Amino acid sequence: MGGIPHDHYEPSSDFEKGMQKRLPIIGLLHDTLMIPTPKNLNWMWIWGIVLTFALVMQIVTGIVLVMHYVPHVDMAFSSVEHIMRDVNGGAMIRYFHMNGASLMFFAMYMHIFRSLYYGSYKAPREVTWILGSLMMVLMMGIAFMGYVLPWGQMSFHGTAVITGLFGAIPFVGEAVQTWLLGAGAVGQPALNRFFSLHYLLPFILLGLTILHIWAFHTTGNNNPTGVEVRRTSKEEAQKDTLPFWPYFVIKDLFALAIILVVFVAIVGFMPNYLGHPDNYIPANPLATPSHIVPEWYLLPFYAILRAFDSEVWLVIAVEFLSFGIIDAKFFGVIAMFGAIVVMALAPWLDTSSVRSGRYRPMFKWWFALLVVDFIVLMWVGARPAEGIYPYIALLGATYWFAYFLVVLPLLGVLEKPLTPPDTIEEDFNAHYAPKVGGTKTIVNPAE
Ligand code: HEM
Repeated sequence: MGGIPHDHYEPSSDFEKGMQKRLPIIGLLHDTLMIPTPKNLNWMWIWGIVLTFALVMQIVTGIVLVMHYVPHVDMAFSSVEHIMRDVNGGAMIRYFHMNGASLMFFAMYMHIFRSLYYGSYKAPREVTWILGSLMMVLMMGIAFMGYVLPWGQMSFHGTAVITGLFGAIPFVGEAVQTWLLGAGAVGQPALNRFFSLHYLLPFILLGLTILHIWAFHTTGNNNPTGVEVRRTSKEEAQKDTLPFWPYFVIKDLFALAIILVVFVAIVGFMPNYLGHPDNYIPANPLATPSHIVPEWYLLPFYAILRAFDSEVWLVIAVEFLSFGIIDAKFFGVIAMFGAIVVMALAPWLDTSSVRSGRYRPMFKWWFALLVVDFIVLMWVGARPAEGIYPYIALLGATYWFAYFLVVLPLLGVLEKPLTPPDTIEEDFNAHYAPKVGGTKTIVNPAE
């Protein structure tokens, strides 16, 4: 598949011509910034920029924090207190970093559900999607390891619970757990390696972000219609697109400004709202908190992890058939990672001929249920595993898998989609063209 035909960079001055022959970086930046972008993109296409901005913000604030933080079990907690009380602007920098993680996850979930609704994962954007899924797992790992660093009660006991999960792997579990912790229990070696990785991995994430952006620049962006930009001629492509600069840069910056107003209000007025008070108690191996919960953004997957307990018939059957090798704990771990794997496989599980959910009447309802399901899982992940809660978690986890493994493949066969517009231009005009005599000049047949 060829790229979208458009004007490429032409060096003008002698300096630019010389650079173009030696290191064509101005040309690369120019073509990246001027990339033809579908002109009907809506506000759900802002989250990628928000994520990129937040990632850079996390790296910058993180580097400043490291100048004062001490990765030692006896000093980590007090070094964070020192940052908060004594370092100039320290409390602000820490709260930006702490809540920045929440901003990243919020933006990432919006970004993912946008892609799921508009079918952005479908061919030819599978590589963008797979890279995104890897970035999501990496982000979870980075956030988890960052939470360990203040060495509070939740840091310590959360680490024990999460690394304990790896202990559930048959035969090699204990060895893996010891290898992860660098010792038989949570302590100094674990803090050292989590600190090292928490510093390193965001740069890997940045590298993956560049690949991710390169991948969708190669295929071109998806858009709310799911219809591709016309590639037959430059003139036609220009009717479907606008250059990224200045049109989308200004739009994205406007959205970013609004989001940052809300973000700064949270950082300024309620910086600890999303955190857990127990993490302001120094780690004490001898006093386990009564209720260990991860941060809000990990809760849906934590709920899936706990949903498959030893009373679920499927777990009982698998344990029996595997001669006890796959017990409830290991089943939960498989389910948690499996929930991300089935999502990553969406490009191959979705059999519909139409890309965008806008033209899929049945899909819309199942998709809405998935969004509700995700929120319910997040809520139930923070509840104790007793009473009605495990049942709700099991129902929620089951629907998550059913959506990808059953609903997506079947809908392609059962659903009769509407006809999307022929071109992006047609959709754009139907939405934004000036009205003549009370009706729009071009009517979108699908709306
Ligand atoms: C650090 C994390 C991430 C960053 C910085 C990032 C960045 C971006 C940017 C800048 C775009 C283009 C603008 C937009 O569509 O909003 C984009 C598009 C896309 N992203 Fe991400 N992304 C991240 C994570 C993810 C994840 C976790 C997924 C899915 C699992 C994902 C899937 C996609 C897809 C499918 C597109 C293409 C959409 C299109 O063609 O219109 N991304 N990403």
